[in-house]
Amino acid sequence: MSDNPFILEPYRSKDLFCDRENELAQLMGHLENGRNVTMISPRRLGKTGLIFRLFDEIKTTGAPYETVYADISDTLSLEDFIKVLSQAVATQLKSQSKILSFLKALKSIRPLLGVDPFSGMPQVSIAFATNEQQQRTLEDLLMFLENYPQQVVVAIDEFQQIREYEGLNMEAVLRKHIQHLHNVRFIYCGSKKHTMANMFTNAKSPFYESTVFLSLEKLSETVYADFIKHQFERRGKSIGDEHVRYILEWTRDYTYYTQKVCNRVFEISAKQVRMEDVYSSISFILDSEKERFLEIRRLITRSQWKMLKAIASEGTVSQITSSAFLTKYGIPSSSAALRNIKALMEKELVLAEPSGQNVTYSVYNVFLSRYLEQM
Ligand SMILES: Nc1ncnc2c1ncn2[C@@H]1O[C@H](COP(=O)(O)OP(=O)(O)O)[C@@H](O)[C@H]1O
Ligand SMILES: [Mg+2]
Repeated sequence: MSDNPFILEPYRSKDLFCDRENELAQLMGHLENGRNVTMISPRRLGKTGLIFRLFDEIKTTGAPYETVYADISDTLSLEDFIKVLSQAVATQLKSQSKILSFLKALKSIRPLLGVDPFSGMPQVSIAFATNEQQQRTLEDLLMFLENYPQQVVVAIDEFQQIREYEGLNMEAVLRKHIQHLHNVRFIYCGSKKHTMANMFTNAKSPFYESTVFLSLEKLSETVYADFIKHQFERRGKSIGDEHVRYILEWTRDYTYYTQKVCNRVFEISAKQVRMEDVYSSISFILDSEKERFLEIRRLITRSQWKMLKAIASEGTVSQITSSAFLTKYGIPSSSAALRNIKALMEKELVLAEPSGQNVTYSVYNVFLSRYLEQM
């Protein structure tokens, strides 16, 4: 394992994970008091990491829960969902006999258990089944968890994806089976705020008011700065406050981007980090991302690209249709601005965040934003 303390995967261990103690305590409290949780934040801020942090805490403190993590971002149907969830359960069960009893519990279908050649993880494949059989299988799966000797925490990541399933109201299906469970707690994670909020706060949605909310914000800048300095020091290196401040400012305290810059700075620096190390790490990263950015440019219209660039130049924009903004960047009309911002939000290239009465827009990907800014 690499000695670089700035991890680029969601979670490795507590000592390489910055803070989130408050959120962790909240999550524990919700579990202990039988509440299901909806956790929302923009992408790459740390939701998945926090889930694994929670599961690690459960394991190390011996809290009486079995944990299951299912990322459903690749799923497009109930069948996919069942596959991912049953694989997640099988992965967790570990012992052969437990897995066999689990497969036996899925009596409506004949699941086959194999091993993924790439990851070595259990892989469940299900033969073609009718919608009805699938629904019964989902029920069997959840009943297996309901009857499990320990309480089970199921985290479903990128939960908003179930709205993409065609031909069935997955929310209604899930809700029907989930609402009677006592032994299973759910944590629903998602990055599409609008969709997630609609699922849990719209009175017409099946999951209406069935959970409490945890909205994950950026890490506190001072806490993150201390963490970064401490990580360098633990490995016998030292980094000045001004360097750390520069990195956090440049990456906008946005976890994934901050980690990525720190990871590179750590790699190339000697015992004492110099400002040149920071600058050259940044230019190395932007350089290596450039192909991807050009690909994005090829995939959107010219005027969308122009709009993206305008937002990047401003950093954040709240008055997207003001004449000052339109004139400054040569955007022909407010309707063009609205049309473009809508398209860019749908493609997740622009992030809209409420601030007071307003909405502020920024380029979602901080590296792309910085790249556009300097073009
Ligand atoms: N508390 C943290 N401490 C250190 N790095 C973190 C922390 N939270 C997130 N990260 C970093 O940010 C990246 C994105 O986090 P992730 O949990 O995958 O975000 P999300 O699930 O919200 O998209 C991770 O790969 C990791 O490098
Ligand atoms: Mg995630």
